Amino acid sequence: MDPFSHHNSETNPTLQKELAADRPRTSVAQLSRHEREILIERGFRSLYRWYLQQTHSKRNWSPDTSFDWSSLRRDHSPQIVNIVEGFYAVEQFAPDYTTELTRLTRSNYGRSHFHIQWGAEEERHADVWCNTLLHMHGRSASEIESYTHELRRSAWSLPWNNPIHMIFYTVLQERATELIYLNLAKLTQGRVAQPCVPDHRDPVLAHIARTVAIDEAAHFNFFLEGARLYLFYQPDEAIPALTDVLRGFMMPAADLIPNYDEFTRDLYEVQLFGRWKYVREVVDQALAKLGVLGVRELESAMLDSRHGAPSPAEDTLLVTAWTGLDGALLETTVHRLFSRLNEYERRVGAPHGQEGTFELLTLPEEAKIPAGWS
Ligand SMILES: [Fe+2]
Ligand SMILES: [Fe+2]
Repeated sequence: MDPFSHHNSETNPTLQKELAADRPRTSVAQLSRHEREILIERGFRSLYRWYLQQTHSKRNWSPDTSFDWSSLRRDHSPQIVNIVEGFYAVEQFAPDYTTELTRLTRSNYGRSHFHIQWGAEEERHADVWCNTLLHMHGRSASEIESYTHELRRSAWSLPWNNPIHMIFYTVLQERATELIYLNLAKLTQGRVAQPCVPDHRDPVLAHIARTVAIDEAAHFNFFLEGARLYLFYQPDEAIPALTDVLRGFMMPAADLIPNYDEFTRDLYEVQLFGRWKYVREVVDQALAKLGVLGVRELESAMLDSRHGAPSPAEDTLLVTAWTGLDGALLETTVHRLFSRLNEYERRVGAPHGQEGTFELLTLPEEAKIPAGWS
């Protein structure tokens, strides 16, 4: 089970009690834009501190010493070797991912600091896939070295130069990556519907894939919580960004890796990923967790908010912007996050918590009616 899942709070009686005690007081639409930005930053700062503590206490693994390398199979099919090489290629752009995203978000303390920690975790993924290639005798050290030189001639750059676009991009990318690694774990554990020829079972490779997938799930959850903060506090900016990202999403480094087509062909052939999986298990799942009722509803809400009544008040604009979102779900998840972070700050006696617990806010009643219900 993913130790980072926020669902733990659903069965935690202490948190449940706090949720009940932390009654929403003010409507978020009554706040100024500046006040809403401060709450987003405050949320990221506390979420980052919580994340860091969880990472060091629960996910401290080493790419060199956490796996039984001598028992890794050395007779994997060329497809599995190509796939592992593709994982290595994508993950070894970690310095670019980290610097670009840290720079983009540098005005937000929690989010930019998170990107440094996140980059360190992505970097160890490159190391573990490099070790896997070597120990499975899939590639020689000199082959990996020349491949790495080739990869390092190009640098990854941001697909969108905007922090809100990039939070949605990272939500989708992390969920897709988690899914692919989980599927490799299932394949190598023999947990697939159709018996495979050749037999891909390998407990060591399954252990590696599961370990990396747990990291990706933690990243997904961080970005998901952050994306909800933007949808809750800045729906007028977040919703257009989300629809842009849904229209233009491409997996990272797809245009930088020379043999990317072979990599994706093999991923699809052994059924670790595919278009259907992307739609049903990445996009649909991520949108459901974000409280998005449907992309069409979002787009029509955006048009309404841009071409609606002349010069509407900002709170009216915000209420319109939430149309297309399941406002009640969004409000509940943001409150649950804040209760968890308040509890964490109290527990550790965090100095950054002395400025007070989070002000818990509510959406205006009109914004809680899902689209199509009114
Ligand atoms: Fe990764
Ligand atoms: Fe990740």
